[in-house]
Amino acid sequence: MAKIITVTSGKGGVGKTTTTAAIGAALARTGDSVVVVDFDVGLRNLDLIMGAERRVVYDFVNVIQGDARLPQALIRDKRVETLFLLPASQTRDKDALTEEGVDKVIGDLSRHFDWVICDSPAGIERGATLAMRHADIAIVVTNPEVSSVRDSDRIVGILDAKTLKAERGETVDKRLLLTRYDPIRAARGDMLKTEDVLEILSLPLLGIVPESNDVLRASNFGVPVSIHDPESAPARAYVDAARRLKGETVAMEIPGKPRLGFFGKFLRRAA
Ligand SMILES: Nc1ncnc2c1ncn2[C@@H]1O[C@H](COP(=O)(O)OP(=O)(O)OP(=O)(O)O)[C@@H](O)[C@H]1O
Ligand SMILES: [Mg+2]
Repeated sequence: MAKIITVTSGKGGVGKTTTTAAIGAALARTGDSVVVVDFDVGLRNLDLIMGAERRVVYDFVNVIQGDARLPQALIRDKRVETLFLLPASQTRDKDALTEEGVDKVIGDLSRHFDWVICDSPAGIERGATLAMRHADIAIVVTNPEVSSVRDSDRIVGILDAKTLKAERGETVDKRLLLTRYDPIRAARGDMLKTEDVLEILSLPLLGIVPESNDVLRASNFGVPVSIHDPESAPARAYVDAARRLKGETVAMEIPGKPRLGFFGKFLRRAA
């Protein structure tokens, strides 16, 4: 059975879709089978970020409504062969995703993949609660600013109340992913510092992704940033986050602080 991850936030535009694609690709690069599922009905962004927009024939809603079978709607990534996308529909009907339909599709996917990653729409409306319903793990994507942190706090409350795990008296494993972090602005006091965010949200930290033009560049090419330029700072942050999800212990790289070079690592190991 798959591990089901929901990438969520409350506030819009914080980097959920970027994160879904980047972590999905990074996990798939390790050989695990991964499907990324776009719950953002009407907007359909994940296929763009994945560079698959011209290959969409059937979508999530077609499968729920019985117009296509699940394998017909899944798109295999051209670069990583264990990575698949279930695209969202462009219908304006936000009620096209039904609870029973979502249950069936997520159930089918979780029997065939190692990881099912659900890209949630912004807000706390139906689409977002449907996206988090099956979550084992929730990645709470947060930018270092007050409004984003406040909305993440609300989402944490909803994760503890409106998920299948909550109904069973269990808890969703919630991890904080701080994105668009700019160390210079944080030092100037224009942005919250990592410690401030951690103090307010008190969630385990999955990673810190720096603000970087590499993200925009990768999305213009339709390639998840984690595989576009693996040496770029945001790619490293996402690859490390994926390794942490797999249970590895990986030292946290703080944007703006120099990464230990070979000699530093050697010294630390010697110590
Ligand atoms: N680390 C980053 N550095 C720079 N820009 C980023 C970073 N992460 C995301 N962005 C940019 O922020 C914008 C919003 O990102 P994205 O679409 O992933 O957010 P979202 O949370 O999915 O939005 P929505 O709530 O609308 O679904 C995009 O233009 C994206 O390129
Ligand atoms: Mg999005």
